[in-house]
Amino acid sequence: MPTSPDLEEADAAPLSTPSNPGSAVRLDPRTILITGASSGIGRALATSYAQRGTTLILIGRDAQRLAESAAECRALGATVEAAAIDVRNIETLRAFILSMDDRHSIDLVIANAGVSAVLSQGEIIESPETTTSIFEINVFGVVNLVQAVVPRMCARGKGQIALMGSMAALRGLPYAPAYCATKSAVHLYAESLRPSLGKHGVSVALIIPGFVHTPFNARLSSPKPLAFSAGRAAAIIRRGLQEGKREIVFPRLLYLLIRAGSLLPGRLVDALLNRIPVEAPPMPTPPPGT
Ligand SMILES: NC(=O)c1ccc[n+]([C@@H]2O[C@H](COP(=O)([O-])OP(=O)(O)OC[C@H]3O[C@@H](n4cnc5c(N)ncnc54)[C@H](OP(=O)(O)O)[C@@H]3O)[C@@H](O)[C@H]2O)c1
Repeated sequence: MPTSPDLEEADAAPLSTPSNPGSAVRLDPRTILITGASSGIGRALATSYAQRGTTLILIGRDAQRLAESAAECRALGATVEAAAIDVRNIETLRAFILSMDDRHSIDLVIANAGVSAVLSQGEIIESPETTTSIFEINVFGVVNLVQAVVPRMCARGKGQIALMGSMAALRGLPYAPAYCATKSAVHLYAESLRPSLGKHGVSVALIIPGFVHTPFNARLSSPKPLAFSAGRAAAIIRRGLQEGKREIVFPRLLYLLIRAGSLLPGRLVDALLNRIPVEAPPMPTPPPGT
């Protein structure tokens, strides 16, 4: 099924909540770490931040695609450090982040890396292996990153952490139970971290996108209402982070529709969701972290 075109600017305005109170947000971060920078939104974010005077620390798994992202950012004038690391590998991830922080003092961390699995017609639930991988990457990958950077940022009394959530966290979807559950965990993690880290000058932003055209959902054949391009999503995220927003939500219309849907009887919403035609090729189980 064809996807919807981008909204007009007026309709597409992100829904952002007010700035983190009491936090020392650096509006012009010079050193930015992005996970999942080898593809999609992460790569678009990297190129969006790439400019002379900026240091980008890029993490992904696919070394070839990560090198292409890094080359693109260097061509735009940025200093780039890139490492092919699986975010599940806590030791390697932590050692790399600390060595980068020693050299560059990280201002902004964007925990963007994530995976999904979508049930095809006839499939009832994800396999145990797939479910475990999704939770390990989407939840523990984020936790591993946050735990590595928080002590340093809090000791400095400044820093910004952005976690990639999803509108799939707002209402469970019958075709992606594990994915929805992991993003819901990310939302509550961000909410829970924000007050305590804020006391130490570190702000926490939660990014809540609807559909974004990336390889992530290209394999999903379903309606993708109000889908954005990755470049446009990156521009909205960057602006929201510069303004120190607590939550960066886009597109607003989809968010409001989902919120309004929560007022309907749950059984009715379940029945409507079951009628959405969703097709996806069987999901290969992501290899275990190395
Ligand atoms: N696209 C959407 O419609 C949408 C909507 C809401 C939220 N999101 C969220 O946005 C984030 C980025 O998604 P995307 O659409 O840009 O997808 P994408 O194009 O598939 O990119 C995902 C990125 O995550 C990286 N990644 C996956 N597993 C990893 C691991 N174990 N260790 C390190 N890196 C890993 C991938 O690296 P390699 O390719 O190198 O393995 C890739 O760079 C995800 O958290 C997703 O949940 C996406």
